[in-house]
Amino acid sequence: MYIVLLGPPGAGKGTQASLISEKTGLVHISSGDIFRENLKNDTPLGLEAKGYMERGELVPDDLTIAMVKDRLSKSDCKQGALLDGFPRTPAQAAALSAMLAEWDKAVDLVPYISVPEEELIERLSGRWTSQTGRVYHVKYNPPKIAGRCDVDGSPLFQREDDKPETVKNRIKVYFQQTAPLIDYYKEQGLLVEIDGTQSIEEVGADLLAAIEQVK
Ligand code: AP5
Repeated sequence: MYIVLLGPPGAGKGTQASLISEKTGLVHISSGDIFRENLKNDTPLGLEAKGYMERGELVPDDLTIAMVKDRLSKSDCKQGALLDGFPRTPAQAAALSAMLAEWDKAVDLVPYISVPEEELIERLSGRWTSQTGRVYHVKYNPPKIAGRCDVDGSPLFQREDDKPETVKNRIKVYFQQTAPLIDYYKEQGLLVEIDGTQSIEEVGADLLAAIEQVK
């Protein structure tokens, strides 16, 4: 099963993708995490993506599509994947459909986690992340020991692009370039809207119920 998690920055896509991946065994593919990994390792892709990410803009489609295609073509994605942060433009959505069609597959479900704009800034400014991509929040999902990951004890960090100015631009870019995908997937009958203002557990339960429906 191929699932596309849609939603604005801070909606909870990464949080839910980790939980669903643990529960369903689906591989979690986060385009943002892959870019950040490349950035950390100073790869040519990381260097190309750096400026866009720092400004809160989207990395160009050709680079992003090639990167995700490479990841999706690995053997662990043959039975499905949970895509978090991709696609983010109509061109990326068309490329995803085309690459899955090449492998006789298709997108099965697009949960759209909706959260009002005013909540997004509070969520992103209180977010702390572990080296492995596990996500915490000072108020809504605090780690057991402040500043340390519950799973491996590694130090938590705040993302560079969670600075207030960059967050504002990421939200603006989302509404301009990614929000049109809501209608795109609605027209295909794949969209299920999930109320992202509920607790993390409630959002997770709604997502799992939506996945059960299409199994
Ligand atoms: P990316 O890493 O994908 O960031 P994003 O989409 O902006 O999403 P976030 O990771 O910020 O938020 P999220 O929805 O995952 O929320 P989270 O679970 O962390 O992209 C970063 C950059 O990479 C982009 O700006 C772009 O430059 C580039 N990029 C990536 N993909 C690209 C693509 N396809 N094309 C081009 N460029 C691309 O939750 C947020 C906080 O809220 C956490 O603290 C969490 O604990 C808390 N929280 C979660 N759920 C709840 C809840 N229900 N109640 C209360 N708090 C909650």
